[in-house]
Parts: sequence; structure tokens; C-alpha cells
Amino acid sequence: MPSSAIQPQTLQRLLSPSCGLTLEVTRQTDSTNAELLRRSAQELPHGYCLVAQEQTAGRGRQGRRWLSDATGSLTFSLLWHFSRPAGQLGGLPLVVTLALLRACTALQVQGLSLKWPNDLLRHGRKVAGVLVELTPGRVEDARAIIGIGINLHLPESLFDQIPTPATDLRNEQGIPPEPNTTLAQVLNRLAPMLQQFAQEGFAPFQQEWMEHAIHQHRTIHLILPDARTVVGECAGLNAEGALLVRQAGQISTFHNGEISLRLAP
Ligand code: ATP
Ligand code: BTN
Repeated sequence: MPSSAIQPQTLQRLLSPSCGLTLEVTRQTDSTNAELLRRSAQELPHGYCLVAQEQTAGRGRQGRRWLSDATGSLTFSLLWHFSRPAGQLGGLPLVVTLALLRACTALQVQGLSLKWPNDLLRHGRKVAGVLVELTPGRVEDARAIIGIGINLHLPESLFDQIPTPATDLRNEQGIPPEPNTTLAQVLNRLAPMLQQFAQEGFAPFQQEWMEHAIHQHRTIHLILPDARTVVGECAGLNAEGALLVRQAGQISTFHNGEISLRLAP
């Protein structure tokens, strides 16, 4: 397997200076999100990006696990200071998944789509995930820790441990994209998109997101936090990134929270 170690100098050289990011590459941590949360009292600068060569206890949404490989995964978190309250950041994970899609498209990856609210899929299988967490104690000026995990090249032994359909970014010859280039492609797109989101909200991204949504106009099941299931047709997203579902001719709106979306079989 090719080494996928991130080389800080190479990565720094590939990053656009206009992104204004501060980069830290660490050899190992439990979770880059957990590490930035632990450091949230230290006043890390806006745009601080922690990249882990290896993550030992990666986190997904709702307490789930994110599994990664020391040489075949990208795991990193970006701290972003907003001047908006957390309640206005519902579209944030969607903007991040769209940045991932744009970056992977630029790397010639085929078969990409998006699943609301936080998944990048390839041929219908999850290839990257986003976990947004908020630092405590901020009300009107939320600070988001944007965690991203990308599968470049996972070994079979790891796929065996992932309970849901998963894949990686290898091409038909079995070659993954180069890790430093991939990370730079993501960060160089993500930073300006976050700047735009901070100023204009989700609306500028709404159309493009829906064009790539695997569930658009399809029958979906939503699993709600109280375990109730809603079945309906996906009717798109509103300008905040909330999901619109049509049931018996009526449209209901579901805000990004502890909701899971499944495609009907
Ligand atoms: P949801 O629709 O609620 O987001 P999900 O299955 O995508 O459902 P998440 O919490 O977003 O759930 O992601 C965590 C899940 O992703 C884990 O429970 C596991 O099934 C799966 N997973 C863990 N590691 C990986 C990985 N490296 N690649 C793909 N999927 C993974
Ligand atoms: C999900 O799909 O539920 C989200 C997965 C997010 C994984 C990334 S890897 C870097 C960062 N650190 C974590 O512990 N999780 C996120």
C-alpha cells in the first residue's frame, strides 16, 4: 500500500495563502475533534487546522465511531469562528460535504453524490463524513469544530469492521489520490466556501447541493430522535439546508439534528 503520510511542508506549499489557515500535523491523537474541543479554552486562531496521521478513537455523529487507517485515511478538524449564533449554522455540514464533492471531482473521482446532512458517497457508499461540533460557552458568535474523515485507501480488514456500506477513493487501477494533494484540494475549496457561508448563509449552495443529492425525488425514511420514522418523497432543501419531505401532498421541513436519512429499498 502506498504511504499516505501527510508531510507538513508539502501540504503547506500546496495550500493557498489566501485561505488564512494555521496548520498543525500531529502523529497520533484519539480524535482531532476531541482534541480541538479540549483546547477550546486556549483561544486557538480562526482557521486552525489539526491534521492527524493516525486517529485512535474517531467519532461520528450521535456517539458513533469513525474508523480510519494510519496510511489510508485523512482525518482532520478545522476551527471556524462565526459571528452568528449556532441556530443559524444548520447548513454548515452541507457546505462542507459540498466542498468535499467539489475537491474529489477535481481529483477525477467518479460516482460521487451527497446524502443529507453529512455524507459524501461514492457509488452509493460512504467515502467521507463530516462531524460539526460547537465549542461550549459561545452564544451569539458560535465557534465550530469541523471534523472531516476521508477514505483514501482502506484495507479490507477495516471495511470488515464498518457496519454500513463504505468505500474509498481508489481509481479503477486501485490507486488512491495523493494525500497531501487531496487535503490541499479540500482546504483550498472549503475555506472560501466557509467565508461565503458565514456572510450569505446556505442559499448560494442550495441548488448545487440538490443536484448531487442521491435522495432527491426519491422515497426516503427519516429516523427521528424519538425513534419515530417518517416516510415520504424527498422534495429538496430549503435555503437553510433543512430537508423538505412530501407526504400525502403536504411538505414538512426537517432541520439538521439527530435525524438519520435512509433510502427506501
Ligand atoms: P446518518 O444518516 O445518521 O448520518 P451514518 O451511518 O452515516 O448515518 P454517521 O454517524 O454519519 O452515521 O457516521 C458514522 C457511521 O459511519 C458509523 O456508525 C459507521 O457505520 C460508518 N463508518 C465508520 N467509519 C467509516 C469509514 N471510515 N467510512 C465509511 N463509513 C464509516
Ligand atoms: C460521520 O460521518 O458521522 C462523521 C465522521 C467524521 C469523522 C472525522 S475524522 C476527523 C474528525 N475527528 C473525529 O473524531 N471525527 C471527525
